[in-house]
Amino acid sequence: MTLKHDFDVLVIGSGAAGLTLALQMAQYAKVAVLSKRKISSGSTSWAQGGIAAVLDDRDSTKDHIDDTLDAGAGLCDYDVVKFVVDQGKNTINWLIENGVNFTRDNQHRKDDLVAGGYHLTKEGGHSFRRIIHSADSTGKEVQKSLENQVETHSNITLFENHMAVDLLNNKNRSKCVGAYVLDTKRGKIDMFRAKATVLATGGASRAYLYTSNPDGSTGDGIAMAWRMGCRVANMEFNQFHPTCLYHPEARTFLLSEALRGEGAYLLLPDGKRFMDRFDERAELAPRDIVAHAIDHEMKRLGVDCLYLDISHKGSDFIKEHFPTIYKRCLKLGYDLIKGPVPIVPAAHYTCGGVMTDLNARTDILNLYAIGEVAHTGLHGANRMASNSLLECIVFANSAAKDISKVLKKEKFDTDVKPWDESRVTDSDEEVVVSHNWNELRHFMWDYVGIVRSTRRLQRAARRIDMLAGEIREYYSYFRISPDLLELRNLVTVSDLIVRSALSRTESRGLHQTLDFPETDPDMDGRATVIKPPRRLKGR
Ligand code: FAD
Ligand code: SIN
Repeated sequence: MTLKHDFDVLVIGSGAAGLTLALQMAQYAKVAVLSKRKISSGSTSWAQGGIAAVLDDRDSTKDHIDDTLDAGAGLCDYDVVKFVVDQGKNTINWLIENGVNFTRDNQHRKDDLVAGGYHLTKEGGHSFRRIIHSADSTGKEVQKSLENQVETHSNITLFENHMAVDLLNNKNRSKCVGAYVLDTKRGKIDMFRAKATVLATGGASRAYLYTSNPDGSTGDGIAMAWRMGCRVANMEFNQFHPTCLYHPEARTFLLSEALRGEGAYLLLPDGKRFMDRFDERAELAPRDIVAHAIDHEMKRLGVDCLYLDISHKGSDFIKEHFPTIYKRCLKLGYDLIKGPVPIVPAAHYTCGGVMTDLNARTDILNLYAIGEVAHTGLHGANRMASNSLLECIVFANSAAKDISKVLKKEKFDTDVKPWDESRVTDSDEEVVVSHNWNELRHFMWDYVGIVRSTRRLQRAARRIDMLAGEIREYYSYFRISPDLLELRNLVTVSDLIVRSALSRTESRGLHQTLDFPETDPDMDGRATVIKPPRRLKGR
């Protein structure tokens, strides 16, 4: 039987963005939080390095802004960068108030907790130590602390194993009024009506064969918003993290940029450093430059991996600063204390997404997007390390303020149709879904990776067209499953990535193409905006 749920606010996603928003809204409203798997299954729990914020008197918001603009390679929106950076210190204070234990630095002053009491690390692109962290598993600590608050709040209902399928619009298609949601345990589609709906569904790096992301990063929010009529921007800028462990069983395991921040070297197979040939900041250049340099050297030498070495820092330092990474590597047969470990770049972060304003509003009335799903203008052509968790929390707060005004005037929509399953049957061809998943992720890696060319992108576009046709057919005949829904969304997002990449006739930040190797100064500040096939009446 199909269930109908009514909540003031429907939050789709339970990472840093979704849980922060839920906590802020629960002061005035009944909130539902959906997670398509377990509550902690998003990228947030996997975050390692930390959160960027200006916390030391010798640092300045101007420098954090300048570093972010520089890493973003001419495409960041200055007003958005300033808006986010200015809220760094308050954001960290709020997290501490909500129970997050950041690593303390006992050698520093104790009088001002945020500025001096905590250890600050460094990462690529940052001109100053400004990354506050919980050893090397910051995300787990943030997620756990927010979960503790959410799980005990009487105004928040958590729905694990509930996957949003599509957003609901009202009869005259002028606004979002909730979502159709698959209860993956019951296999039924329920209807969630809400006065405001918030996408907090994370990124889409699972479009690629090798990624640092959990399984659920399939771009569902971007695809749902797009289907409903929202514009999507800068999808060509998928970030590749330079250092994932090269191991047949653990290719998703990240070796945090904080390792390089604390002095680790990148090495060629002969043990020589090479990054200074690419950028004067060497190992601490922004991520696009480091990943590109690694890719270049791997291709030049015809090798499958390069190496990361922090062994010169000694056993105590490594165990204290990187306990999780140290133990995990050891389990997999690599000892960080004894010598270099093999690394490769992998898809890590979706810089583009659903276009939003400073209130996190999308193009559709009462639909918001926060966190990695959104394109706010903060990251431009390349996100600077540890700016993402900050962005999640800052925009969750501004969305909450805006939604509290919406709730005063909105009513539940009574005209929404229940999901119609009368014409579909159970699938006997699950193999088609798994085959198409594999095919998509292979050709996205091979043709739409760190270095692109127009021919490879066109080849990918043709394959995406074919897969999209098959999935449409499959979707209309068979009862839906989580795998099918994720594949459908990934194909949509891959199409957006390829179309955006083809339309950018220059190399900039994370988009490097052999056919247009130079950056075109005329394209400074110009985002790639893809308009949806159909628009709602909207704002
Ligand atoms: P997520 O935390 O990814 O959560 C997404 C949520 O949406 C999940 O609950 C998921 O179940 C749910 N969901 C998705 N689709 C649906 C659907 N259809 N229906 C219902 N629910 C759905 N950033 C930093 O700033 N600092 C770091 O140190 C850092 N380290 C990182 C390390 C790793 C290994 C990775 C992968 C990322 C790292 N990042 C870091 C990036 C950062 O972690 C993410 O960008 C951020 O956590 C995204 O948070 P989010 O709330 O937007 O989404
Ligand atoms: C890392 O710890 O290297 C990841 C940081 C980030 O993605 O911001």
